[in-house]
Amino acid sequence: MNAEELKKIAAEKAVEWIEDGMTVGLGTGSTAYWAIRRIAERVKEGLSIRAAASSMRSEELAREWGIPFVSLDEIDRIDLTIDGADEVDERLHLIKGGGGALLREKVLAAASDRFIVIVDESKLVPTLGTFPLPVEIVPFAERLTLNRLRELGGDPVIRLAPDGQRYVTDNGNWIADCRFGKIEDPASLNVRLNQIPAVVENGLFVGMTSSVVAARKDGSIEVRS
Ligand code: A5P
Repeated sequence: MNAEELKKIAAEKAVEWIEDGMTVGLGTGSTAYWAIRRIAERVKEGLSIRAAASSMRSEELAREWGIPFVSLDEIDRIDLTIDGADEVDERLHLIKGGGGALLREKVLAAASDRFIVIVDESKLVPTLGTFPLPVEIVPFAERLTLNRLRELGGDPVIRLAPDGQRYVTDNGNWIADCRFGKIEDPASLNVRLNQIPAVVENGLFVGMTSSVVAARKDGSIEVRS
């Protein structure tokens, strides 16, 4: 199976866990896309849910496809959020933010009773760090912030949009993609990054994952909890 088919089957497996009456968090990215698509189909078939989104892109998809939408200002908890990841380690810690939505994704994950991660097996790694860690920073004093990220060993590069201008997140911020090499202690790095004043959030999701649904190349599904 090709990568797109694997993303689709992982997404569709996770969507089976959604039940009537749930408030559902919608992730962002090419794997979450398939989950949103399947949720929309189930809604058309009669599933009664409401959904909150981790990005403007996912909100647009949900609205376009007729998924009842709820603002995060109207709810206190989310029953279940389904989202992709850039890397998943053996303890189910994650790197996220390749699509730039890490801050809102982390807000949703933290508010969710269950946070389900959907991936194809290429995202499973023994140790995080091959994928550059996205760090969302305020658009101010870039030089000072990049210096601080360098002091932590991050080798930061400011993300650019296809037009060559700085990539701007849904929150009006910038992203520094940081190569730390192997991240042996993601919990500690997560804290140290967020102590830098101009860092808004980083893409390490530590201890937040309830289950990972991974699609193997042969089409089988592995669930890790
Ligand atoms: C979006 O900001 C990201 O966190 C995505 O969830 C992550 O990059 C995975 O994206 P894909 O499913 O497109 O690989």
